[in-house]
Amino acid sequence: MSNQLDKVRELIELRVQARSGGGEKAIEKQHAQGKYTARERIAMLLDEGSFEELDMFVEHRCTNFGMEKKKFLGDGVVTGYGTIEGRLVYVFAQDFTVIGGSLSETMALKICKVMDLAMRMGAPIVGLNDSGGARIQEGINALAGYAEIFQRNILASGVVPQISGIFGPCAGGAVYSPALTDFTLMVKDVSYMFLTGPAVVKTVTGEDVTQEQLGGAQVHASRSGVTHFAVESGEEGLALIRHLLSFLPQNNLEEAPIRPTSDPIDRLEDSLNEIVPDNPNKPYDMYEVIGAIIDDGEFLEIHADYAKNIIVGFAHFNGRSVGIVANQPKALAGVLDISASRKAARFVRFCDAFNIPIVTLVDVPGFLPGTGQEYGGVITHGAKLLYAYGEATVPKVTITLRKSYGGAHIVMSCKQLRGDMNYAWPTAEIAVMGGKGAVEVLYAKEAKASEDPAKVFAEKETEYTKAFANPYNAAKYGYIDDVIEPRNTRFRIIRALQQLSTKKQTNPAKKHDNIPL
Ligand code: HXC
Repeated sequence: MSNQLDKVRELIELRVQARSGGGEKAIEKQHAQGKYTARERIAMLLDEGSFEELDMFVEHRCTNFGMEKKKFLGDGVVTGYGTIEGRLVYVFAQDFTVIGGSLSETMALKICKVMDLAMRMGAPIVGLNDSGGARIQEGINALAGYAEIFQRNILASGVVPQISGIFGPCAGGAVYSPALTDFTLMVKDVSYMFLTGPAVVKTVTGEDVTQEQLGGAQVHASRSGVTHFAVESGEEGLALIRHLLSFLPQNNLEEAPIRPTSDPIDRLEDSLNEIVPDNPNKPYDMYEVIGAIIDDGEFLEIHADYAKNIIVGFAHFNGRSVGIVANQPKALAGVLDISASRKAARFVRFCDAFNIPIVTLVDVPGFLPGTGQEYGGVITHGAKLLYAYGEATVPKVTITLRKSYGGAHIVMSCKQLRGDMNYAWPTAEIAVMGGKGAVEVLYAKEAKASEDPAKVFAEKETEYTKAFANPYNAAKYGYIDDVIEPRNTRFRIIRALQQLSTKKQTNPAKKHDNIPL
């Protein structure tokens, strides 16, 4: 046997050793908890056979607490690159079987290396998290490692898409890497995220909570909005990341891929001519409208369980990737509140950063009134959405279906916020405020002086509604570019997007903006 062959054999053995992570027992424990290993996750995420692993021979350098005897090839993270639907993507997957996936200084170096490569090549970075946090034995070096990662998350923001899958614990300051990325996904009953765990919570506040109650997938998907997706299983989560990336460009200088469709661009959707109820207080389901106008009815909703009064997500129009923002009359009458404003603002900014046109479907009665909202800072949060639409330079097409009142009218991508094409259905009501509120202000004295105030209000409301609750006042001034037949909405949107495909618009040069955070 030649010397060279021996060396090749040694290499193969080392590779086998590295691929076994923390060893058979730890892998069994991982599987018993219903979790996949880091390598299994990567295999499910990437195109078959496309993964090229890097830094397989990296080891930690810690000698505290006997750590010099506890070494694993590659340490607690698997890193490298591969493809998804043939497109380059960089990936790191924390390996819980190696010292609980806890982050060492060298693990951070491995992660930073693939993040730097992603930036240099202009490709998305996907992080699969499953870790006990900073490696306690390494102390400050582990913290420094996290900070290096966070700094790269910040610089990559708006340059390449960053996606975080949480497939196990993600606690302490470690949560800030996912929080800095564009999209976060959690697995129900398996993942959790919190800054301080239940034990610390109990000590500090006396509150008794379980991990699930404190930071489980359901909680973050519906209450805090920290995660964009809550899925049932690891497989579903990894498939979702692949699907999500299909809507996104590789970086901020490119456009999202075109997805061919056989859905006719001029498909008329007769049901839309009858979807808006005669009674303005009766809701209808905005999902039906979205499903009826997009390619093949395929909508990828973001933040589906959070702030249901506004819907955001990706779809295609004639094969082109588009972000949809739509008020949902079925939830809180489609009113804008703090959560809805934050949710939609972040989505609009993502679309704008990555050259994805925005289609806005408006049916909004206004902002939610009350001390709860005011004390919570609805002014600042509402301003986020206003700001996001106003700064966005991607093509913006707005369709007003029904209500569009007051400040909410302005916020929802109106003409003066540089809406490119603003259309309205004949059922649109675009005005300063609804008829009831308006007449109560305008005719308070008259009603008080009359024997039948209710009659006065009713008559005046009818008059006001006739004069203002329509799209033609706005159209008269060119604030609405056209009043369109509802069943023709898909065609009109596609035409508008085709027209706007060469749009060029820039904002004034500045160091960075100062969005009302
Ligand atoms: C070193 C760790 C570790 C850590 C887990 N392990 N977390 N080693 N540093 N942070 C080790 C365990 O000792 C164990 O080693 C192996 O990983 C598997 O852990 P188990 O506890 O057996 O697993 P499980 O029962 O599933 O519990 C998982 C867990 C628990 C809930 C995550 O391990 C845990 O509470 N870990 C500590 C979490 C923590 O407080 N982290 C520091 C947070 S502060 P053996 O050898 O027994 O197999 C932080 C600051 C970040 O992260 C700041 C960034 C700015």
